[in-house]
Amino acid sequence: MQPVGEIWIKGGTPLSGQVSVQGSKNAALPMMAAALLHDGKTVLHHCPRIADVLVMEQILNRLGVKTRWQDHTLEIDCRKIVGYEIDNELAGSMRSSVILMGSMISRQGQVKIAYPGGCTIGKRPIDLHLKVFQNMGVNIREEEKGLWAGSSTRLQGTTVEFPVSSVGATENALLAAVKAKGETVLKNCALEPEIRHLCYFLQAMGAEIGGIGTDTLWIRGVCTLRDVEYTVPPDRIVAGTCLYAAAATRGKIVLEHAPVEEMEAVLQVYEKMGGQWVCNSGKLKTDAREIRYPVSLTETARYPGFPTDMQSILMAVLLTVPGESRIRETIFEDRYKVVPELARMGGCIAVTGKDAWIRGGIPLCGAKVKALELRGAAALVIAALAAEGESLISNSHFLERGYEEFENVISKLGGKIEIRGKMG
Ligand code: UD1
Repeated sequence: MQPVGEIWIKGGTPLSGQVSVQGSKNAALPMMAAALLHDGKTVLHHCPRIADVLVMEQILNRLGVKTRWQDHTLEIDCRKIVGYEIDNELAGSMRSSVILMGSMISRQGQVKIAYPGGCTIGKRPIDLHLKVFQNMGVNIREEEKGLWAGSSTRLQGTTVEFPVSSVGATENALLAAVKAKGETVLKNCALEPEIRHLCYFLQAMGAEIGGIGTDTLWIRGVCTLRDVEYTVPPDRIVAGTCLYAAAATRGKIVLEHAPVEEMEAVLQVYEKMGGQWVCNSGKLKTDAREIRYPVSLTETARYPGFPTDMQSILMAVLLTVPGESRIRETIFEDRYKVVPELARMGGCIAVTGKDAWIRGGIPLCGAKVKALELRGAAALVIAALAAEGESLISNSHFLERGYEEFENVISKLGGKIEIRGKMG
């Protein structure tokens, strides 16, 4: 992808109005990978039409999978698959491509894949994924540009305790186990809601899974699965981004279909800053006019803790709040890349190790800045909405990876935003 798009924003307008929350990226991607397990059809409703989903679709297409969109419904026909190689360039452009490994080994007996790419937010190894596969009887070889993994026999159920809980490794293990021989027990699984959503989706396909919603999952391997039609749940991070965009501009917005029960930590920090909200009839009504309090410490943590994906987005809001706030990033070791860009807008942030100290309340001013990763791009949009004057954020494709037509969402809320030179 070429970094051609630029986001133009004129800040200073409090957001107001009502928008609906798109389908979840992190739920949809593993469901698309799971479709490969079944030699039949999968239909995903409310599927977000974002760049990462489109890249995953292209990867599937190169494997012979037929796909069709109708509005936000994606039909995936996996009756025929050819080969076992994941397209190098496409896999290299997206971290989540690693999630194809479990399904491909299960379906094709082998997979060849480039080391996954994606956001530059630290080392992001895949050792935990590979360890589970090995336990299930998979051989793994390093090749010139990536990995080959395969097994000449049906995968064997196993018991694994993850040393560190990992969303992707839990999902990959689940996908590999669904059609494995015998029972698999996964301990210390990630508790992020996307795991639960994947389990329910797999159950709808005919998988036998227990312990859903806990950190220990068991899977009894089945031989066949069935066609499935499923609705992708709303995106908790996109909902949080809209909430915090309104917070930074001291706006009042209504979010339709916000997954409030999955947003507890994000709403708690919003309340600490002085934000108010109520939820009724599936609508989250928010009022940020009283936001004025710094937050002494917010630590990112595993679910149900404060999500690392909201960390830079919170930082942008805290820049608008007078006083000193602190954020501690505990999940990824290099997730402060947005700090120098926020500084160009007048943001005063000092990073020491895992901690970012934010001196808020100094007026932000529009500037030319550069997005370097997905959530950092969203943070820059929020800072620009709160800033005085015009900003130009280059590399809009990072935003487009996870947010569907975000400029339309923000425009609908009264924000002055345009994406220029957007990718087709
Ligand atoms: C997923 C989400 C991402 C989110 C992250 C943490 C998707 C597509 N992405 O990413 O948006 O920020 O969860 O909530 O769902 N680790 C290892 N070895 C491994 C795997 C992970 O050491 O084999 C470490 C990572 O370096 C990191 C931590 O575990 O420090 C969390 O990573 P993980 O939960 O795996 O995140 P992802 O699945 O990549």
